[in-house]
Amino acid sequence: MIATIYWDKNAVIILDQNELPAQIKYIRCEDYHALVHAIKTLQVRGAPLIGVAAAYGLALAVWKSSQENSALEDLYNLAEQDFAASRPTAVNLFWAIRRMRGVFDQCKGQDRDSIARRLLNEADKILAEDVSINQSIGDIGAHLFKEKVRIMTICNAGALATGGYGTALGVIRSIHQNGNLQQVWACETRPVLQGARLTVWELSQDQIPVTLITDSMAAYVMSRDEVDVVIVGADRIAVNGDTANKIGTYGLAVLAAYHKIPFYVAAPMSTVDFSMNSGKMIPIEERHHDEVRQIRGTYITVPEVKVFNPAFDVTPGELVSAVITETGIIRPPFFRTDI
Ligand code: MRU
Repeated sequence: MIATIYWDKNAVIILDQNELPAQIKYIRCEDYHALVHAIKTLQVRGAPLIGVAAAYGLALAVWKSSQENSALEDLYNLAEQDFAASRPTAVNLFWAIRRMRGVFDQCKGQDRDSIARRLLNEADKILAEDVSINQSIGDIGAHLFKEKVRIMTICNAGALATGGYGTALGVIRSIHQNGNLQQVWACETRPVLQGARLTVWELSQDQIPVTLITDSMAAYVMSRDEVDVVIVGADRIAVNGDTANKIGTYGLAVLAAYHKIPFYVAAPMSTVDFSMNSGKMIPIEERHHDEVRQIRGTYITVPEVKVFNPAFDVTPGELVSAVITETGIIRPPFFRTDI
């Protein structure tokens, strides 16, 4: 499976997802600013993967610094702020920053080299854990299906969005391995086309049968009784099951409910934000207007038209049949904090 991120001799190497599927191009990030830039510009994207990238970025900040003691702490604080400000919606980013902070704080009083090694070790652990968590999500999710299914998904919640294997696409991979996958419907996912560019490419690489549709075709495909289940990833899940994911997910959930099709969210437990009781509290990123005005750099409209470009929406928990996590399948009332 293709590597999305790794450490190589004093630098973090990332797969540039903006270049896919035209070319497989890796970028060598020599300092943490390059990783912050990569997250902001979607060279690295997907909730779990931006958490992993921030973890490596924080390790890199210390690795490349010549500071010690309080100057090192100042630099670490700045790097942490830069990553925290890179993208607001996916909670995995903040989860990874918190986990790295715990290690940094434990290292107080040690020399820079030892701290850098501990941080790098933690980032490696976060990456490895992510892959095995996704395999568990996949295997647990696949048990839901005992016969051939046709699955609709949106965006890319695959190996490309994670350390490897994927969440929603991880479940799809495991169903395929069990021989129970008929085919995947991939919604193209305007404006940035993660479905068309990334999901189709990723599934094709593994010879998983996939059909591409534009987002506006989903209702018609469902009405023809050609979808058995919708499975999507998540950027943040509130305690009541409200789920932030790529813009268009909420629409799919409404359509699925109308057509009586189960709607599953596949995500690691680190995507659940126990500080948020409802999806109303989830910050929704708004991105550059040219993402809507253009397709791959070419204007498709009047260049100065007013635009609204939220990158995510929130699907109400009542439309979510269940959340597939590495610890099991969680159904309403979802994540209780009072037990
Ligand atoms: O803007 P993106 O491409 O980072 O959005 C990604 C998604 O919405 C994914 O579905 C989500 O992060 C889950 S990835 C396992």
